[in-house]
Amino acid sequence: MFKPLLALFCSLSLLASHAALAEAKAPIVIKFSHVVAQDTPKGQGALLFKKLVEERLAGEVAVEVYPNATLFGDADELEALRSNQVQLLAPSLSKFGAYTQQLQLFDLPFLFDDLAAVKRFQKRDKGRELLRSMAQHNIYGLAYWNNGMKQLSANRPLRLPADAKGLAFRIQPSEVLAAQFDQLGAQAVKLPFADTVAALQNGTVQGAENPWSNIASQQLDRLQPFVTETAHGSLNYMLVSNSTFWNGIPFRIRSELEAIIEEVSLAVGRAAEQLNRRDRAQLLAAGRTQLIELTPAELAAWRQAMQPLWQRYEAQIGADVLRAAQTVNRR
Ligand code: LMR
Repeated sequence: MFKPLLALFCSLSLLASHAALAEAKAPIVIKFSHVVAQDTPKGQGALLFKKLVEERLAGEVAVEVYPNATLFGDADELEALRSNQVQLLAPSLSKFGAYTQQLQLFDLPFLFDDLAAVKRFQKRDKGRELLRSMAQHNIYGLAYWNNGMKQLSANRPLRLPADAKGLAFRIQPSEVLAAQFDQLGAQAVKLPFADTVAALQNGTVQGAENPWSNIASQQLDRLQPFVTETAHGSLNYMLVSNSTFWNGIPFRIRSELEAIIEEVSLAVGRAAEQLNRRDRAQLLAAGRTQLIELTPAELAAWRQAMQPLWQRYEAQIGADVLRAAQTVNRR
């Protein structure tokens, strides 16, 4: 009686330890979903992250990258992150409005003179604090990734703010961006990135605002005969995870992942500059879209039309954050 029981006990514990071993060895899977093409700053950043993780944490972490909104898109990706169906996203800072109003700062037109100023702000205390601004929603900001300055494209030449009157522009889901076009007497239509091309094709909108890399990767020059180089705002992303998931990763692995993210974030910054410069040159060489470069006086008119928004959104964003941002330009 005793012997068979002992044998059963032994084989059961053997099975349990095998199962525990198998479980301990199963890699942590990180699904990284995004809405743009692979050949963009964000697309390349996601691929580099996967590559470095596979080199340095082989067998411990596996990364699956889903570009072009093939897994989740603008409408559902953040809720998918919060419910841990996906573990990494890098949405534009204009897409977090349901979870914090503070990131609206980055949508304020003409607040930052250039991408270097944006980066300086992101490195300061106030900028870093914003990475934690959605903690109560289980959204954990890991890093800023930046694309480039946004340019206005349209089906007619835009030289002065009044030229935009009556046009409908596709925008990201941001109240500040809606107000920006309202200032011009234009209409703003909030649409997922993946629907932009169709909306320009079917005439729902006649204009858009994008950095050169997104204009090129979506071939918007086929639909937008004019691009005005306003650089009125920038397109920036936050690499985010689900707080519970991220903080549940064993410390050693999490530290390695965070070191990789730091490295990739720097690489994204470098790639963004190169890609935007390359795409601008290629689009102009292709000749389907005409570049409108503004004189200082014309640029001042755009600035004057849009700048009242700073004050309007100051209370929502926080006067301290806005003040900190206003100190980073080098003018
Ligand atoms: C957009 O919707 O225009 C951008 O946020 C797309 C992107 O992620 O670059």
